Amino acid sequence: MQAFVTRRIPREGLAALSQAGVCSIQQWDSDEPIPRSELLAGVAGKHGLLCVLSDQIDKEVLDAAGSNLKTISTLSVGVDHLALEEIKKRGIRVGYTPDILTDATAELSVALLLATCRRLPESVEEVKNGGWTTWKPLWMCGYGLSGSTVGIIGLGRIGQAVARRLKPFGVKKFLYTGSRPKPENAVEFQAEFVPLAKLAEESDFVVVTCSLTPDTKGVCNKDFFSRMKKTSVFINTSRGAVVNQEDLYQALVSGQIAAAGLDVTTPEPLPTDHPLLSLKNCVILPHIGSATYATRSAMSVLAANNLLAGLKEESMPSELQL
Ligand code: NDP
Ligand code: DGY
Repeated sequence: MQAFVTRRIPREGLAALSQAGVCSIQQWDSDEPIPRSELLAGVAGKHGLLCVLSDQIDKEVLDAAGSNLKTISTLSVGVDHLALEEIKKRGIRVGYTPDILTDATAELSVALLLATCRRLPESVEEVKNGGWTTWKPLWMCGYGLSGSTVGIIGLGRIGQAVARRLKPFGVKKFLYTGSRPKPENAVEFQAEFVPLAKLAEESDFVVVTCSLTPDTKGVCNKDFFSRMKKTSVFINTSRGAVVNQEDLYQALVSGQIAAAGLDVTTPEPLPTDHPLLSLKNCVILPHIGSATYATRSAMSVLAANNLLAGLKEESMPSELQL
């Protein structure tokens, strides 16, 4: 059997794949994304595909792969880059990497929240550019978590891990939204299930940790931001497309909300002349939620093992139920 790997991945994952003796491997061995034409050519006739979140695995790619393709393994927990309906129709199995990246992503979400609400990048810049002239009572003030209300959009694995880390900061109340109440997820934080509008209106911090689906696409829009308090902080570590970025920009410029921290944007990378990058009250990171050495290594091994299990028609360590 033959597998195609669309990117350079941690060596532990590649070793797991190559030492298994299950398939021969062809790889786009680069840190940079594979050009579309190379992807279409590389996948042709393959039985397995190991891809990353920036590869759009759509009908065209599946057609190019042909009927040999039986397993797709993505080096991510997010699966919004996969044409799931089309994949299901063709009887292709999908592996992904939940759980093992939850801690790293939650940790980054908290780091981004603190950096944003306490204005860390702006403060560091002031030290460097001479803006720090003396200690000033009214200078570089931000917002703290103590006594606050935190609203979490998507209280799944990462959402809960974020709440668990924020609770010791003295958060007074947690709110959450989702497709339905999840008391089993919420009980640890005594989190209250509320409509999205109420979450926007009552939260001092909004943290987006949901998956990107047709239902969540663009839900953080003009209406949502207009309901938020002027003193509230918005954090997104889910997917950029959950947010209408033009509406977010207007909310930040007009002072409708206090600040935003984004680990994910549309597009990625965000062009360096993008208006959001001109704002002091917007902290933007380059999609590094799961970027610890240990996590990326574990993700690569899990993705390799998912692929191998799929090729061997065995049960996968982490299979997405289609
Ligand atoms: P989970 O499946 O555990 O959680 C997803 C959550 O999204 C669920 O709680 C689900 O709630 C919620 N959700 C679905 N539809 C809606 C909706 N309409 N409104 C509000 N919430 C909704 O996934 P994970 O926590 O493991 O990962 C979440 C996402 O985080 C990934 O899909 C990925 O996009 C992103 N991610 C980003 C990373 C980064 O580097 N920044 C790293 C890792 C993940 P319900 O069950 O009620 O539908
Ligand atoms: C994911 O896994 O979906 C992240 O975005 C990258 O780890």
